[in-house]
Amino acid sequence: MKFKKKDNKLPEVVMPVGSLEKVLAGQKALVTGANSGIGKGIAVALGQAGADIIVNYVSDEKAAQDVVGKIKDAGSKALGYQADVSNEDEVKGMFQKMYREFGTIDILVNNAGIQKDAPIDEMTLDQWKAVINVNLTGQFICIREAIKEFKRRGVVKKVSCAAGKIICISSVHEIIPWAGHANYAASKGGVMLMMKSIAQEVAPFRIRVNSIAPGAIRTPINNKAWDTQEAYDRLMELVPYNRIGEVDDVGRVAVWLASDHSDYVTGTSLIVDGGMTLYPGFATGG
Ligand code: BGC
Repeated sequence: MKFKKKDNKLPEVVMPVGSLEKVLAGQKALVTGANSGIGKGIAVALGQAGADIIVNYVSDEKAAQDVVGKIKDAGSKALGYQADVSNEDEVKGMFQKMYREFGTIDILVNNAGIQKDAPIDEMTLDQWKAVINVNLTGQFICIREAIKEFKRRGVVKKVSCAAGKIICISSVHEIIPWAGHANYAASKGGVMLMMKSIAQEVAPFRIRVNSIAPGAIRTPINNKAWDTQEAYDRLMELVPYNRIGEVDDVGRVAVWLASDHSDYVTGTSLIVDGGMTLYPGFATGG
């Protein structure tokens, strides 16, 4: 249902649903790329907050099952599902499975992402397409499917005061240019304006769309940036807060952004980067 301006002659009082501890109780979430890294951290955090979770993965079923186990240990339901987010049919199949198992979707976390780095004059079309397909087109396909269900179902007040919440996992590289990673930075810059455009379009349906833009988080995707002391020290020159991020840092933000405690937040990129985007070089220069 579209909430028209004339329906709201008096401001509607919005009450967050859920205690702070199990703030997502009764909600159904899909987290893509949830078998490792940031996706894993988010899936476990949402599960601990009371949501039932589809743990999407494209490879490494064992790792996905480990995440499923952690969520079940926290008292929520969970299910692993293999699908390539850039494959439309596989994504549709995943949403159908979610509806058969959980009935609906309340929260989509678009996390699946890859890097295929190369100097621009050596970057192959396959490297370019692979990154754009997963990081940008994959997010679009999942968003489209989720929004169909959010619009069909509308707000269920005892579950959430919104009809649905979408969190796109972007990167500080939606802002910071990144030499040697043009495909990746282009995909994340694309995610930023896709997210904002869709947020604008679906806000009248009480659907919230936001991004989290993490900086350097300790995961397999960037292990070369932290797995030796020398690399870590170099990385810290870019991080004023002087520590690497952990997946829980992102997980906690995702819980808040998926919950009714952030009900008035839509169309925003929440940067979680220990200050990486604060131009650290200017602390002593300029
Ligand atoms: C990339 C990481 C990188 C971080 C900060 C992320 O989006 O995936 O490889 O360490 O940005 O540069």
